[in-house]
Amino acid sequence: MIQTALDIETIRKDFPILNRKVNGKPLVYLDNAATSQTPQQVIDVIVDYYQNYNANIHRGVHSLSQEATDAYEAARIKIQKHYNIAKTHEVILTSGTTHSINLVANGFTSFVKKGDEILVSAMEHHSNIVPWQMLCERTGAILKVIPMNQNGELVMEAFHDLLSDKTKMVFCNHVSNALGTVNPIKEIIEASHKVGAAVLVDGAQAAPHIKADMQALDVDFYTVSAHKVCGPTGVGMLYGKEEWLNKLPPYQGGGEMIAEVTFEKTTYADLPHKFEAGTPNICGGIAFGAALDYMNSIGFDAIAQYEEELLQYATAQLLAIDGLKIYGTAKNKTSVISFNIDGIHPYDIGTILDKLGIAVRTGHHCAQPIMDFYKIPGTVRASFSFYNTKEEVDVLVEGVKRARNMLL
Ligand code: ALA
Repeated sequence: MIQTALDIETIRKDFPILNRKVNGKPLVYLDNAATSQTPQQVIDVIVDYYQNYNANIHRGVHSLSQEATDAYEAARIKIQKHYNIAKTHEVILTSGTTHSINLVANGFTSFVKKGDEILVSAMEHHSNIVPWQMLCERTGAILKVIPMNQNGELVMEAFHDLLSDKTKMVFCNHVSNALGTVNPIKEIIEASHKVGAAVLVDGAQAAPHIKADMQALDVDFYTVSAHKVCGPTGVGMLYGKEEWLNKLPPYQGGGEMIAEVTFEKTTYADLPHKFEAGTPNICGGIAFGAALDYMNSIGFDAIAQYEEELLQYATAQLLAIDGLKIYGTAKNKTSVISFNIDGIHPYDIGTILDKLGIAVRTGHHCAQPIMDFYKIPGTVRASFSFYNTKEEVDVLVEGVKRARNMLL
């Protein structure tokens, strides 16, 4: 019996897509770690923007431009408040986590030199590995990996041993997309700062589950994508401490990010505009703010408690299936279950589940080093949101049993 303060049936009515059928069956959407669904409240904000005040921002004296600018900047303040960020201009609006990380990696080119060390956790998404490898190629810095154990938890003793005065930067996700592990980022940030290293935390997968407090964490950079928190794709946040953002060079040149341009010399705009070249995703930014409003109206404590119950329930049901193994059994994890069944390729299970209307992700989840660690080609990943139900877990479990019977 799952106890929750949330009225899930009422919440589900906010998500029109949950009513649709897939392959003739009611959709059971369990691919929330890839992208969350969008509530009507956010869809309405998007429609309202295009129907009533679509205009470019920060540029026109006309009323529409002013309305769009006000709404966009109001969204920045919502994001600031949600993440308890000290200064509004420490919120850089980007196209998402990948853009945010690349912006920082590019900017660090002039702060990192040959022989410096960069630590990256063993359970990163490719977007928090490849930009740092590219940085190392440009600078001669050395990438070192913080190992993980079989449960999918970082080996913290090894992390502390790797830290030295050569360490210039440390990268870690708050939550692993492939395993659901919640990493001890507070400990990582504190220890890294003691040796003078900057820390970037990829918060993409934490965003729908944990309301992270930038000031309490004292993190240097934190990245989020709106589409993980019921917002649209193509927009996200880079949080950076003001002192870092002032030091980093601009990432892209263009309109909006300048103070003055002549053919001899260009001077750059103040934060946050220095990092926001070109016309941004205006509607997306406004909808990102609306999505956080929506999530906060439900409440992150209630969401976390309910998702934990769904996770426990689903874990127990799935483990009862013969030959099923779960990857990622950390004590502290979010509602993500990566699994395989002995002798069956994850893709085949995913294909049968799709025929039954069940959406899961299969494959390496953009985290190939994790799959190499477990010596597997990939997993089936079911990821649960606050709008999923115990009944949907039952449909998944029945679907997996059926797939097993068909494929073995
Ligand atoms: N990073 C997203 C996922 O884990 C797309 O599926």
